[in-house]
Amino acid sequence: MQAKPSTSWCPAIALLLLVATPPAGTAQQLDGARLFQQRCAACHAIEPGQNRIGPHLAGLAGRKAASVDGARYSQALRDTQAVWDAQTLDRFLANPRQFAPGTTMNLAMPNAGERKALVDYLIALP
Ligand code: HEC
Repeated sequence: MQAKPSTSWCPAIALLLLVATPPAGTAQQLDGARLFQQRCAACHAIEPGQNRIGPHLAGLAGRKAASVDGARYSQALRDTQAVWDAQTLDRFLANPRQFAPGTTMNLAMPNAGERKALVDYLIALP
């Protein structure tokens, strides 16, 4: 016995799928490089030796906090004695003033998804 496929509800499913699938381009783009350009590049270069308001961020992974020659650091950041890796960067960027009370960097990134994209980008910087 063959069940006759019912076609009457197919348009309803098609409609549901349309509604459930966001149109291309509206999904939030979590691009670390772009986030860096938008939020950080005003104060930080990624080329070694180029300190702006903040220190350059080249070779950040494994670097000791507040260790770039010629950059201006707060005593607060020096006192953390942190070494930058995915975890310390995540904590710092989530809330710089909590990580290093008295730091001169006040820009926080409360959005965990954005932070992860940015940290992935920072960790990979040569
Ligand atoms: C308004 C300027 C400014 C902006 C914007 C800014 N920073 Fe900073 N950043 C600083 C300053 C100043 C310091 C030094 C802080 C201190 O010594 O307390 C710093 C320090 C840092 C450090 C520690 C570097 C080291 O050598 O120990 C990291 C990592 C960092 N910033 C990442 C970022 C990221 C990622 C962004 C973007 C989300 C960002 N910063 C946005 C000014 C800024």
